[in-house]
Amino acid sequence: MGEDRREGKPGEPAANAMWGGRFEQAPDALMTAINASIGFDRRLAAQDIAGSRAHAAMLGAQKIIAAEDARAIDRGLAQIADEIAAGDFAFSEALEDIHMNVEARLAEIVGEPAGRLHTARSRNDQVATDFRLWVRDRTDATIAALERLMRALLDQADAGADVVMPGFTHLQVAQPVTWGHHMMAYVEMAARDRDRFRDARARMNECPLGAAALAGTSFAIDRHATAAALGFDRPCANSLDAVSDRDFAMEFLSAATICATHLSRMAEELVLWSTAQFRFARLSDSFSTGSSIMPQKRNPDAAELVRAKVGRILGAQVALTVVMKGLPLAYSKDMQEDKEPVFDAADALEIALAAAAGMVRDLKPDPEALKRAAAQGFSTATDLADWLVRVLGMPFRQAHHVTGALVKAAEAQGVDLPDLPIEAMQAVEPRIDASVYAVLGVENSARSRSSYGGTAPDQVRAQVARWRAALS
Ligand code: ARG
Repeated sequence: MGEDRREGKPGEPAANAMWGGRFEQAPDALMTAINASIGFDRRLAAQDIAGSRAHAAMLGAQKIIAAEDARAIDRGLAQIADEIAAGDFAFSEALEDIHMNVEARLAEIVGEPAGRLHTARSRNDQVATDFRLWVRDRTDATIAALERLMRALLDQADAGADVVMPGFTHLQVAQPVTWGHHMMAYVEMAARDRDRFRDARARMNECPLGAAALAGTSFAIDRHATAAALGFDRPCANSLDAVSDRDFAMEFLSAATICATHLSRMAEELVLWSTAQFRFARLSDSFSTGSSIMPQKRNPDAAELVRAKVGRILGAQVALTVVMKGLPLAYSKDMQEDKEPVFDAADALEIALAAAAGMVRDLKPDPEALKRAAAQGFSTATDLADWLVRVLGMPFRQAHHVTGALVKAAEAQGVDLPDLPIEAMQAVEPRIDASVYAVLGVENSARSRSSYGGTAPDQVRAQVARWRAALS
């Protein structure tokens, strides 16, 4: 930084080269420590360089800086991008953040033109742009990851469209459903999650660059050109808003929290299903871990970690919301605290989605165990009540009552409904005949629920086909 450096007190480091003009002393070590963000915002390096290249090209095209200076800046920034990608870049805490680290290195590479890059720009619009680009990239990656999960679920659903399992309410056996239907429930959730990220992307895709510190600039910049160069739909229309808001990140975290909540529920089911008590499905060795003391154990650690990730993701959402709450317009340094929660949540969601898709691909349902469990707990009682309505013309409320008495009789004999002798049934309702047994089997029960969106294998196959077409 040579010439620009101001001397601090003897023996202390020089004042900051970027804004040292009105400063005589170097910052206290604690000032540097609390102020520096380079430890984490180095993750914005690629976006920062892309933003600067677009800005420099625009400054050149608008003749705000000389064309050869714009070219020199671009060449220097390209070299810095390579250095950072190769791990050859010395990040400096004294240079505070990614923006000043890049600019300082640019000065070393290209000399005087580097000082012209910051014309008509501020770190305020710069960081807002970098962060939007970063969140946008991760939004795209999340959408792709959700589609991979959906495809894994669709394959499970297809293969298990006829496999009968218990459906639960209150975690008590309720009615037979199909494995395919259960998998498709998560497809619907993942699809809405994907759409939430898509919606957020559309709203966030406006470019803050050129808002400068807060008020815009007197230079004849072309904000539409920089917005287009960076893949934004348009520039942000209000410079104060452009540098102040982080709602795009809050929206990302909000969508991430809902998505992680869905993953958590799915993971919980994988945990339950792989217990000795349930034995509904098995995760292979690739997605299980052993115990250091109990040789018999196979633990679903990946599922448990997916179940847990929502904790830190919701934590990030709360953290960013509290940081933003009550901040006056425009930029305040509080907003430097926006990044770490978002980085952490994005990483957590990425691994959770990948692990969830991996487990769904790995999962092997046990059709025998599922069918056995589906038959337990009088799961076809509703089918019996429906039969009384359909065949005997009973009002449903009365049928419900009669079925309750039949369940009580079965319970007293220690049998399930399909095994309750006809005499015992007729003791409760004399008009019942043997044709009732046809609706008491779990497979018939599932097949009969063919209303739109119901659990019948045909319905499940139709939904699988619809989603496959939508994803291709
Ligand atoms: N590192 C800062 C951040 O992340 C960049 C913006 C600094 N702007 C300022 N006016 N001090 O928010």
